Parts: sequence; C-alpha cells; structure tokens
Amino acid sequence: MLSIIVAIGKNYEIGRKNQLLCHLPDDLKHFKRTTAGHAVLMGENTWFSLPKRPLPNRRNIVLTLEKDKSYEGAEMAYSIEEAMRLCPSEEEVFIMGGASIYRQFFPLCDKLYITRMQAEFPDADVFFPQIDEKDWQLVSEEPHPADENHCCAFTFQVYVKRKNG
Ligand SMILES: NC(=O)c1ccc[n+]([C@@H]2O[C@H](COP(=O)([O-])OP(=O)(O)OC[C@H]3O[C@@H](n4cnc5c(N)ncnc54)[C@H](OP(=O)(O)O)[C@@H]3O)[C@@H](O)[C@H]2O)c1
Repeated sequence: MLSIIVAIGKNYEIGRKNQLLCHLPDDLKHFKRTTAGHAVLMGENTWFSLPKRPLPNRRNIVLTLEKDKSYEGAEMAYSIEEAMRLCPSEEEVFIMGGASIYRQFFPLCDKLYITRMQAEFPDADVFFPQIDEKDWQLVSEEPHPADENHCCAFTFQVYVKRKNG
C-alpha cells in the first residue's frame, strides 16, 4: 500500500532551492514516528536534500533515471515500475517527495499524511498537486500551534482515497 507524506503551505508549496520551506521540529518527529520501520521512496533531489543520508531505521529507495548511479545505504530504482517492484504490496510504503515524485505517485496512492502549514511561502519553487475532497476523505486532524520553535501553526491531517474517487 502506497502512502504519501508531505508538508504543504497554504498554496500547496513544498520547497525552495531544493530545501524544505521551514524548520518544524515537531513535524520532523511526526515524520520519523510515522515512517520508522517502513520503506521510504524518494527522488534523487530529495535524497541529496537530506542532512543525513540514508534515513536510519528505514529502507531508503531512491529514484533516478540514470542507471549508472547508486548511493550507499540506498536501494536504487530506475523507473516507477521498478520502484513498485521493490515495495511489498502488503506493507505501507511512504512516498516522501519531492515534487516530481509526488506528482507521479499521487494517482497510485491510497493515503495522504499531510502537514498543513498555516503560512504562505512566495519564493517556493515546487508544489504538491491539489487535494480534491471529492476524491479524498479527511479522516483525522491534529492542530499544532506556532511557538518559539515553530515559525507557523500547522495541522497534521490524514486523508484516505474515496472508493469512488
Ligand atoms: N514539503 C515536503 O514535505 C517535501 C518533501 C520532500 C521534498 N520536498 C522538496 O521537494 C523539492 C525536490 O523536488 P524535485 O521535484 O525537485 O525533485 P525529486 O522529486 O526529489 O527528484 C527528482 C529526480 O528524481 C528522479 N526521477 C523522477 N521521476 C523518475 C522516474 N519516473 N523514474 C526514475 N527516476 C525519476 C530524477 O532523477 P535523475 O535526474 O537522477 O534522473 C529526477 O531528477 C525540494 O525543495 C525538497 O525540499 C519537500
């Protein structure tokens, strides 16, 4: 089963200059808690954006179109089909970005773990696809306030794909 995990701003923005839009320590903890023990699948740009590679205690699967590339600590996939073959269908696998990977996997996923940041980032250069409530049902929401460690308020949301979606 494929799930997406992502933090998005008010305008569906997700990154700038190959970095996240802001540092939200409790969102990073949420990411770690949610994905620990599972496979995470990412594009090459996101792999290189990680401060520490590979992410520990998870299978790291990295997508690139260039077949001569391989990175220590990562399993490589050179197409969507190959990535899918590496992912056991009975287990939850997390698509963790970036923009091009979200776009391609969005139609294939059944569950979305969205961190909705209550902020706009006008200099963002990558975006997430629109989430249409006709296709996705919101099943949980947990708000988190802005504080000295978090520049904006945000809400952890979980959506599941509607059966007729
Ligand atoms: N807000 C969030 O939660 C979040 C999460 C993750 C990332 N991000 C942000 O997203 C941005 C990066 O996104 P991005 O779109 O630039 O890069 P990306 O999706 O991380 O990686 C793109 C690369 O993935 C490879 N790729 C894409 N489609 C492929 C396919 N079908 N088969 C094989 N390889 C494929 C290609 O690598 P090659 O060029 O090597 O062929 C492509 O250049 C950064 O700003 C990052 O911080 C945000």
